[in-house]
Amino acid sequence: MAKPRIYVTRKIPQVGLDILAEKCDVEVSPHDRPLARQEFLSAITGRDGILCLLTDRIDAECFDAASGVKGFANYAVGYDNMDVAEATKRGIPLSNTPDVLTEATADMAWALLFAVARRVVESDAVMRSGQWPGWGPMQFIGGDIQGTTLGIVGAGRIGAAMARKSTGFKMKILYTDAQPNPAFESELGAEFVPFNELVARSDYVSIHVPLLPQTRHMFTYDTFKKMKPTAYLINTARGPIVAEDDLVRALNEKLIAGAGLDVYENEPRMAAGLAGCSNAVISPHTASATVSSRNGMAVKAATNLIAMVSGKRAPDCLNPKIYEAT
Ligand code: DGY
Repeated sequence: MAKPRIYVTRKIPQVGLDILAEKCDVEVSPHDRPLARQEFLSAITGRDGILCLLTDRIDAECFDAASGVKGFANYAVGYDNMDVAEATKRGIPLSNTPDVLTEATADMAWALLFAVARRVVESDAVMRSGQWPGWGPMQFIGGDIQGTTLGIVGAGRIGAAMARKSTGFKMKILYTDAQPNPAFESELGAEFVPFNELVARSDYVSIHVPLLPQTRHMFTYDTFKKMKPTAYLINTARGPIVAEDDLVRALNEKLIAGAGLDVYENEPRMAAGLAGCSNAVISPHTASATVSSRNGMAVKAATNLIAMVSGKRAPDCLNPKIYEAT
């Protein structure tokens, strides 16, 4: 029997490719960059399964191009790049990669929090420039961490991991979500508060909600006006949750003390002026970039895709409705 034909839209860790190669005919994009739309549409034509990335738009046009496809496995936990409703309508399974990147992403949120609060990047630049004049009592004074208040926006897997890692710093945890989570509250003494109260009371606001129509531009200039001038914003979730031009304005006007960002509204571009904000620490969407997380994502995506092309339900299926009897 012919092996399922799989297309992988960009090289991923070998461990995932090896799993696919055992059962499938695999072709991997030869380019170390996202495929241009036309390249992508022609590459996926005639395939049984596609292993895609958050930089690929998975929508009606691509379902038309890949007619007969048995599934798309996203190499990411976030899946705002996928039109789940359209796929469900067409009975096409989709999957993502939950759990394997939870701790790495929360670690990166902490790395950004430390870096921006303690001005690590600015300090590093001065040392490298050879311009450090020696110790001084007023140099690089930053924000305290111990005993402050951490506001978690979205207490799902990654938000909860972020909160759990705060215990050594004896922080007060506030959180906001679609609904209260009593287990989270009793584990960490966290307090469920409305969004506006969270932004007003927190010293650090860390975003962990998915990008949805209702979370797009959840943070605007008005939100920054409600935050403390000594507070910091951390975003390792999705860029469009923050109105990035408004953030640049707030950072320049010192409405807030700083921001640690791993994600951007229009990746790979950044809002005009952001690169010039010394009170921002900016990383290139690398929160999941650890060996075990990226390998774990590769294994999950490959395992999901093999299930889909074999006519089985993927372990991380995003639209199990397609299996319900009509
Ligand atoms: C995800 O998985 O959604 C991250 O943004 C990339 O690892």
